[in-house]
Amino acid sequence: MKREASATAHPNIALAKYWGKRPGGANLPAVPSLSVTLAGMETHTRVSFLPGLSRDRLVLGGKDEEGRPLVRATLMLDRVRELSGLSTFAEIVSRNDFPTASGLASSASGFAALAFAALGAAGLAPDGADAAFRERASDLARRASVSAGRSAFGGFVELAAGPAHPEQGMSGDRLVARPLAAPRAFEESLRVLVAVATEGAKAVSSTDGMGRTAKESPYYAAWLEEAPRLHRGLREAVLGGDFEAMGMLAEASALAMHASAVAAGVVYWNGVTLELMRAVREIRARGTAVFFTIDAGPHVKVLARESDAPAALTYLRGVPGVVRVIETRPGRGAELRLESEGARASSALAGEAVS
Ligand code: DP6
Repeated sequence: MKREASATAHPNIALAKYWGKRPGGANLPAVPSLSVTLAGMETHTRVSFLPGLSRDRLVLGGKDEEGRPLVRATLMLDRVRELSGLSTFAEIVSRNDFPTASGLASSASGFAALAFAALGAAGLAPDGADAAFRERASDLARRASVSAGRSAFGGFVELAAGPAHPEQGMSGDRLVARPLAAPRAFEESLRVLVAVATEGAKAVSSTDGMGRTAKESPYYAAWLEEAPRLHRGLREAVLGGDFEAMGMLAEASALAMHASAVAAGVVYWNGVTLELMRAVREIRARGTAVFFTIDAGPHVKVLARESDAPAALTYLRGVPGVVRVIETRPGRGAELRLESEGARASSALAGEAVS
């Protein structure tokens, strides 16, 4: 019997960065983070549990994936099989409408979409909009990639640090992201301009980069101390709808995170990244409030108010080396497409016949 469901998810951009894990292997973050989920970039994923497969299969952007991406997806599917009692392998077909593995948060939207689709296909989503389902999907996605846990929700989203000494087992290491209610007009007027600094894949994954930072950076301890303070400030700025405070703190979080990484030899920036940082500060010096943030890649994400976005966009597009600039805004959390196959999967588990 075939069980199938599809889901979509969007990347999120961290304003208060997550960088570093709790020891223990449960993929729990060492610091709290705060992000905004972005409309305008999307991952679409279909999961089909198929009898007759001898192992899981992952097709990403039309290409069969082996190695680490497949191992991470299989680990998530193993958990879904454990939760649902299914024993069949699955085919995952996923595509992004933006560059994959280049620091554009494709693992966040990728694992969020996979968690939603896999739970749906396994019949564990009787109602895709159900809050308990969304939390379960957030936890499942977070176990694969911490930032993915945040893409389960739309708008501003928070994820606490994991417990310092997590208990063993399914519930002791549970950690779910939560939406953060910002003033509506503030959220609606935010624009995030994603300036793409190279089309190539990134050299060091976030997992490896933060692992090396934790092990080798003389500034990792300083980052661990500073990150919760930056997170608290960002939380207040977002709740109070203070755009400038949010922008300054987001820049500070990105710079502190990268400083700790650079000291371990983990450098994600290229020349275009530096030009873009300079451009953002130049626009700001001329009186327009724009701010940058950078993840584990060379791209620069620029925070702007809606009214300032067109001029900032034109300026950023003129920076030498910029491949393109994508305009995004706060968007929705991941969504399960239950219309057809997923609904059939759920009814199958309820004991009805499925073709
Ligand atoms: C710089 O969530 O990709 O984007 O949990 O190891 O998969 P893993 O890491 P990942 O790291 C994201 C790091 C970041 C900051 C952030 O999104 O908070």
